[in-house]
Amino acid sequence: MGQRILLYTGKGGVGKTSIAASTACSLAKSEKKTLVISTDPAHSLGDAFGVDIGPKPKHMSKNLYAQEISVNEAINTHWNELKGYLTGLFQTEGLDPISAEEIATLPGFDEASQLLYLRQYYEEKNYDAIVIDSAPTGESLKLLSFPEAMTWYMDKIFPMGRLAAKLVRPVWNTVSNLSIPDDEVFKSVESLYASLRKIRVILTDPKISTIRLVMNPDKMSLSETKRAFTYLLLYGYPVDSVFVNKIYDESTGSFFKGWRSAQSEIVKEVNDSFSDLRIFKVPMLKEEPIGIERLEEMSSLIYSDASPLDTFSKEKSIQFIKEGGKYIIRLKLPFADKKDLEIFNKGGELIIQLGNWKRVFYLPTVYSDKNPIRAEFINGVLDIEME
Ligand SMILES: Nc1ncnc2c1ncn2[C@@H]1O[C@H](COP(=O)(O)OP(=O)(O)OP(=O)(O)O)[C@@H](O)[C@H]1O
Ligand SMILES: [Mg+2]
Repeated sequence: MGQRILLYTGKGGVGKTSIAASTACSLAKSEKKTLVISTDPAHSLGDAFGVDIGPKPKHMSKNLYAQEISVNEAINTHWNELKGYLTGLFQTEGLDPISAEEIATLPGFDEASQLLYLRQYYEEKNYDAIVIDSAPTGESLKLLSFPEAMTWYMDKIFPMGRLAAKLVRPVWNTVSNLSIPDDEVFKSVESLYASLRKIRVILTDPKISTIRLVMNPDKMSLSETKRAFTYLLLYGYPVDSVFVNKIYDESTGSFFKGWRSAQSEIVKEVNDSFSDLRIFKVPMLKEEPIGIERLEEMSSLIYSDASPLDTFSKEKSIQFIKEGGKYIIRLKLPFADKKDLEIFNKGGELIIQLGNWKRVFYLPTVYSDKNPIRAEFINGVLDIEME
């Protein structure tokens, strides 16, 4: 089996860090060289292991490494790739040189640096598995939609900026001290962009990457998990399983009786709603799973006979179908509400907007000269006919 990237996400506090750390411990125990990375700026991976970790991969035990990504550290590690992006931002806005801390707050910088680390580790092929303890859902979606958002920028804004810079620079430089980005800067923005596109390819390839949804058996967590699943499918990410964490078992006694029956209703709904995915049920433990030993114990309760490296669902979120002379794009958006769904065709691009999230589809060439003529959304499946 090739290298695997496993990303755990979900609502705040549901147990993402514990399950990611526990998965990493179990992989390391089964002789897989594993790196567990926290991309959540509010790192708590160190708390799960009960030791300080820091911004570089730290050797934790045999086959096990852990890292809490720091944007400041990324500025040093990936400086060559990021400097064009930064210089571009400063120069266009006419800012004075600023500190690493200030740089770290720039839009998209967190995302770009985390993604560059992932690409680096994937390409170095130094680990059998990279386990990502990611930030709560909204932040993770921002991270995962970043390469596409940048595609839009690169297609629409960037060429204009580049052209404008070319035209204006000769005159501008004689009248102003502020410089306009030179072509080198634009080139490095382009190469940063190419890197990010590559990472998207890696993260959307189900043979390499898998996104796993962590939730608790309560209504709010279930609703968020459904939304997250739908958005991840919209962006074409492979989701293969749901982890329902902190389930009360019989040993919790009569006080928790009401909770147990409410939880079992939710678990039933999870089984029905995510029938194409593998559902892992994780009990509420008697003690916090902290430290390698407890995390390993937790993993044996989670996975029993399964290997975390397996792919538990091979569902494809998007399909391009040719049926009786018709070209159809079929997109699974299981929990989307029809009223939140909008489809545009703008200058040969297909744009699907779902609530606040928008995806611009870059279609295969046979589709690129076609326009959507009909769309149908039935039982969570969106069919768009192109002509
Ligand atoms: N199955 C479990 N049994 C008992 N305690 C658990 C279990 N899973 C997680 N915990 C505890 O619940 C708390 C929250 O877990 P964790 O930090 O893993 O969640 P998280 O989703 O990563 O949170 P955040 O959104 O803040 O990053 C921690 O104290 C952790 O030790
Ligand atoms: Mg966490």
